Order: sequence, then C-alpha cells, then structure tokens
Amino acid sequence: EKGGYPDFMLKEIYEEPRTIRDTLAGRMVNGHLQFDELALNYDELAAIDRVYIIACGTSYHAGLIAKNLIEAWSRIPCEVEVASEFRYRNPIVTPSTLVVAVSQSGETADTLAAVRDARIKGAKVFGITNVVGSPLARESDGVIYIKANKEIAVAATKSFLGQVAALTLLAMLLGQLRGGLTTAQIRMLFRELADTAQQIEQILADTDTIEAAALACKDAQNALFIGRGIGSTICYEGALKLKEISYLHAEAYAAGEMKHGPIALIDPGFPVIVVATKSPTYDKVISNIQECKARGALVVAIATEGDEEIKKHADYVIYIPKVRDCFSAITASVPLQLFARSIALARGCDVDQPRNLAKSVTVE
Ligand code: F6R
Repeated sequence: EKGGYPDFMLKEIYEEPRTIRDTLAGRMVNGHLQFDELALNYDELAAIDRVYIIACGTSYHAGLIAKNLIEAWSRIPCEVEVASEFRYRNPIVTPSTLVVAVSQSGETADTLAAVRDARIKGAKVFGITNVVGSPLARESDGVIYIKANKEIAVAATKSFLGQVAALTLLAMLLGQLRGGLTTAQIRMLFRELADTAQQIEQILADTDTIEAAALACKDAQNALFIGRGIGSTICYEGALKLKEISYLHAEAYAAGEMKHGPIALIDPGFPVIVVATKSPTYDKVISNIQECKARGALVVAIATEGDEEIKKHADYVIYIPKVRDCFSAITASVPLQLFARSIALARGCDVDQPRNLAKSVTVE
C-alpha cells in the first residue's frame, strides 16, 4: 500500500507534483480560469467587501499564504482565523462577506460550525476540501476540490500543497474580477504555478543537504523558524510539522520580531531554520541570520538556487529553484516537510501516526 516507500508521509510528499498538476487540471481553458462548480454569480462576487478564511492547523497556514495573494491581487481585505476562535466570537460577517473554509477532510468540527454560523449571517461560503461529498462540500455554496487523493499520514503534506494551489487559483479569480490582474497576467501566473510541479520534482531528486541538516538538529530541545512575508507563513507550517511528528519543540516567528523577544532564546547550537529565498525582504532576512549567528545559532537556510552569498552566513543551505516570491510558499514547504520527517525518524518517532493526534478532528 505504501508503494515501496518506508512510510505514507514520504509517499505522500512524492505525490505532491501530481497533486499540483491534478488540482490545476481543467482550470485554465482557452486562457480563462474555469470554476463551473462554484456556480459563480458575478454580481454577488463583485459586491464582496471582505474575505474571511477559516480553518484549523495546517489548513489555517494555507490560509495565511492565501491572504497575501488575495489582498495583493484583488485588494479585498482578507482575514484568516482559526475556526475555533471565529465561531466563539462575533466576527463581522454580512451578506457581502465571502467565507472561504479550508479543510482537507471536510469534516473538522470547528470549521463546520464556523461555516454554519457564517451562512446564518448571510455570507457566501466557498469550501476548499479534498473529500468529495464531505460535510464541508455539502454545506458550502461552492467548492474547489484539491485533488490530493487519500492522505493517510496524520501530518498533512500533499493536501497542504493542493490547498495552497487551489487558494492561489481563487486569489487569481478574485484578482481578475476586481481588475487587479489582467488576462495576460493570469495566464502567466497560471503557467508559473503549474511549473512548481516540476520544481518540486527537482527538490525531491536531491535531499542530501536536508538530511544532513536534520541530523545536525535532531538532538535539540527547541528550534526556531523565521522568515519574512510569504517566508514567515511557510515557517508556521514548518514548525508545526516538526513539533507534531518529532516532538521537538518548535516556534515560528516573523523574523522582524526576533529583537522583540525570541532572540533571547539563542545560545550556541540553537537551531534556527530560516526561509531566505530571494524576495523583496531578502537583505533584511540576511541581517536576521547574522544576528542569530553572532549568538552561536546553528543556521539552516532555505535559499534560492544560485545564491552563493548565503553560504557565508548559514551552516546548511538547502537550495530550491528560483520562483516568483508567492510561489515559494509551495516550493519551500517541501524541504521543510522532509526536514521534519528526517528529524522525526532520527528521534525514533512514528512519522505516520504521531502520538495524541487523529487524522480528522470531528469533535471539539
Ligand atoms: C497537521 C494537520 C492538522 C490538520 C487540521 C485540520 O499536519 O494535519 O493540523 O491540518 O486538523 O484538518 P482539516 O484540514 O481536515 O480540517
């Protein structure tokens, strides 16, 4: 059943290129985005003045990435909130609110409860899920399916990438509706999004540095993940993956926050994993690395292929192909998943079935 892989997690990571391809299949026809099943009412969509993305865990992290894209391309204010918080306060939801609920299983109790509340308040609800016919699919006004096939490992991997891909398509659609993106830009973005499948294959073809970095960090008590912009959102997911499968305590921070507290943690050998891909804030991230190095941190950097400079600053450099900044959310997440898995295995953990966790959380 594991198709020759030692565990489902690794098998599912290797299925990521296919997940991207399948999630995008049929979405661009004659140069136009296709979402027939959303039963789009363009007048309703044009009236949207606020987007809420609600989800739990890894799906919430996919939402954090999407917020950046939705606001950049459509200029519609977008908030991301964990479903268990959203449902117990009184969020500003009106008939002109679009709620996007993200859930791999489509049956997470808090996410469903939040969807029900939002619908009572008249919001339009789109579901992003992997499971056809799931409660989320049934209770949403429209669904975008991610085509990850069944995910067995408790830790979400390929479904996360599918969610990011599907949410990127939704952000493109909103951008098109609001005039933030031209048809030509949409075509270009779609092509680049599709290219990430092949770029992931490239990452999977050489994982030696990821392995070496993981071995260097395996005996740590704590680890910090830092980045800026899209890089910071990837860090939240990288830290979650590490703690849930290896039980190594990890935190993620926007790198600009280091001086406001977390840098006090750094002592010699403290692992700091930095998403340092080429982005508008690259230079700032390098400064953050230098500050950590000056205090003896063990720095593992995820960097853009061809960046030789970074070798001067980091102990381990994991290179990923050059992509548009927003698509680094997809590519940079892959080495972080492999990194977490390697540490978990080195610590003798069961990567597919971590203690205390269930694949779907259908009770609160
Ligand atoms: C982490 C993980 C969980 C889920 C969360 C939401 O690897 O898998 O954090 O992401 O329980 O589950 P869904 O997406 O099914 O609502």
